[in-house]
Amino acid sequence: MQLPNDLRLALERSLRGIAPKQLATVAAELSARYREGHARDQATFLRTPQDVSAYTATRMPATWAAAYAALHATARRQPDWQPCSHLDIGAGPGTAAWAATAIWPTLERISLLERDAIMIKLGREFAAQAQSAALRSASWTQADLAGQWQVPPHDLVTLAYVLGELPQSKHSALVERLWSVTGATLVIIEPGTPRGFELLRAVRAQLIAAGAHILAPCPHAAACPMANGDWCHFSQRIERTKIHRAIKGAELGYEDEKFSYVAVSRQPAGPIAARVLRHPQSQPGRIGLELCTLAGLQQRTVTKRDPGWREARGLDWGDELLPNEEQ
Ligand SMILES: C[S@@+](CC[C@H](N)C(=O)[O-])C[C@H]1O[C@@H](n2cnc3c(N)ncnc32)[C@H](O)[C@@H]1O
Repeated sequence: MQLPNDLRLALERSLRGIAPKQLATVAAELSARYREGHARDQATFLRTPQDVSAYTATRMPATWAAAYAALHATARRQPDWQPCSHLDIGAGPGTAAWAATAIWPTLERISLLERDAIMIKLGREFAAQAQSAALRSASWTQADLAGQWQVPPHDLVTLAYVLGELPQSKHSALVERLWSVTGATLVIIEPGTPRGFELLRAVRAQLIAAGAHILAPCPHAAACPMANGDWCHFSQRIERTKIHRAIKGAELGYEDEKFSYVAVSRQPAGPIAARVLRHPQSQPGRIGLELCTLAGLQQRTVTKRDPGWREARGLDWGDELLPNEEQ
């Protein structure tokens, strides 16, 4: 997967005037601060506009890819749904809105809420260069989620890579608030780590109790069957651009972003039978699948002789199996 051209160009333009060496130094300092645990306190993590540009250049491609993958899976569950409005909370440079317009080009109205003024400035600069008219005319609001903020309901609401930055004691009230402003569909994304997954497991239970219908990734609304330290997460590969490689000092031409997510809706969607939880293991004549199913976690082996062989060959990590595709 590649970043859309307009976003790639906007990212590259934002780095003009900063020498690649300087960017690499800023990015290395950011990595060190991240490892020291400052990432959850943005005031000490991103200190200058250059920090924000370097951070955005290194992280936005991957978080865009994760948001795209989560929204794509959401769209597959309700193929006739065309949202008109999108609200992105903790928007950063507008990553989830860029992903949403790539999935639903018919979006007309985008609202972004973000605390950090430098992020908003950068996000506005990016959005001004977007092909999407909705992104170009998006409304940005500077607000602290911990304080007062008022927004009308929107068809699609997203919260991407934000929950883990907030004190856990605030999660439940925030999720309740997000659901109250969700006209149709709410998607929450976190890093694909044990912690990200645990936060989402609690969010999922809360939303189900509030009457939300699970769209993805779960094939059911029963208690999450993940156990023994395992965690439900997915992976999206994104190509690195030249400048991205230079900043990261990376050799590989791509990176794999691990993410966890939950997507819920006010309307039930058609049933799915299972979700693929790992890369399918292909061997000559057989494919091993690790699935979350209506009956819990299952390991399944599909052989060439099975009726589901053709479908199994086309499956990838994160895909859903429809009831008639079950082996
Ligand atoms: C890791 S970034 C993710 C940005 C974007 N959603 C993405 O996926 O790329 C987290 C964002 O949440 C914002 N944020 C964190 N705490 C916030 C709060 N209390 N109120 C508003 N925004 C907040 C930060 O300023 C930052 O832009």
